[in-house]
Amino acid sequence: MIYTVTLNPALDRTIWVKSIDYDDANRIDKEEKFAGGKGIDVSRVLMNLGVASRALGFLGGYAGMEVEGMLLLEGVYCDFTPIANETRTNVIVHVESTGVQMLLNARGPEIQPAELTAFFKKLESLSDARFVVFSGSLPPGLSPIIYARSIETVKKLGAQVVLDTDGENLRVGITGKPQMIKPNLHELSRLVGRDLQAMADVIAAAEDVRREGVETVLVSMGARGILLVDAKARLLAVPPKVKVVSTVGAGDSAVAGFLYGRLQGMPLEESLRFAVAAGTATTLQPGTAVATREGIEAILPKVEVRDV
Ligand SMILES: Nc1ncnc2c1ncn2[C@@H]1O[C@H](COP(=O)(O)OP(=O)(O)OP(=O)(O)O)[C@@H](O)[C@H]1O
Ligand SMILES: [Mg+2]
Repeated sequence: MIYTVTLNPALDRTIWVKSIDYDDANRIDKEEKFAGGKGIDVSRVLMNLGVASRALGFLGGYAGMEVEGMLLLEGVYCDFTPIANETRTNVIVHVESTGVQMLLNARGPEIQPAELTAFFKKLESLSDARFVVFSGSLPPGLSPIIYARSIETVKKLGAQVVLDTDGENLRVGITGKPQMIKPNLHELSRLVGRDLQAMADVIAAAEDVRREGVETVLVSMGARGILLVDAKARLLAVPPKVKVVSTVGAGDSAVAGFLYGRLQGMPLEESLRFAVAAGTATTLQPGTAVATREGIEAILPKVEVRDV
């Protein structure tokens, strides 16, 4: 089984207004709710590719129940750890008159020690885990050491681990030695503490991370594609030029595409091609929508993979 872990998921609430009058009540024209989370997006893309996965993490309160209910309706299997505090709600406001979009991101609920224990008990029980993907930020108050410990826990069960996060969470998470990480250029640059311009700089940075015990480093670079560095290969996969609609979830889709290739037993370069095709297919979807199988298959033959 594949497990995705989203420790700080959100109920994303999008609101459309004609304009904003700061001294008066503003009428909401339309609103939508959506279950948001980076691990959750990996599960969504895998589902679109016909692969079942189970989404784990923390959910609490009414917002948490809504998130889980929406995921169940979409067909994503869930096994979240219940928490006493309420799952966060992020608010996205679209102002039609100006075209401005405003994002209001909540910090998220505090996790009680007993809830963390329950989550670790769950991790320890994942004896059928083939891949476990840890994505995104941590709820407030949880130390990044939680990522390192979680990774060690599922690795002991024989799972392959992907870590996709940023800053301290990535830096400390790596000490748990995940087999794979997928930073974007900014995340990798923050991790190694230097500016990354030329491809040689990016490769050197990926090699530095490999020396910390990560086997495969996938560096996503937006329209420049994805660089893969492991013990045997240095590959660059470049997507075709496309008219991007929304990049939300592109990185998560790339992770799902890569895992799909590995699960199907594809060679490394084909798995990387799948990663890029999935990422780029998601950029052609509006808002938070992610790639479909048809979308991915349409991009696939246009992705160029080469040694670097
Ligand atoms: N402008 C673009 N044109 C074509 N493909 C793109 C573009 N931006 C992103 N992609 C595709 O999506 C993949 C992942 O994108 P990116 O490097 O932006 O990830 P990310 O920053 O981790 O994204 P996320 O915000 O989802 O975490 C890229 O490797 C590429 O395949
Ligand atoms: Mg990302």
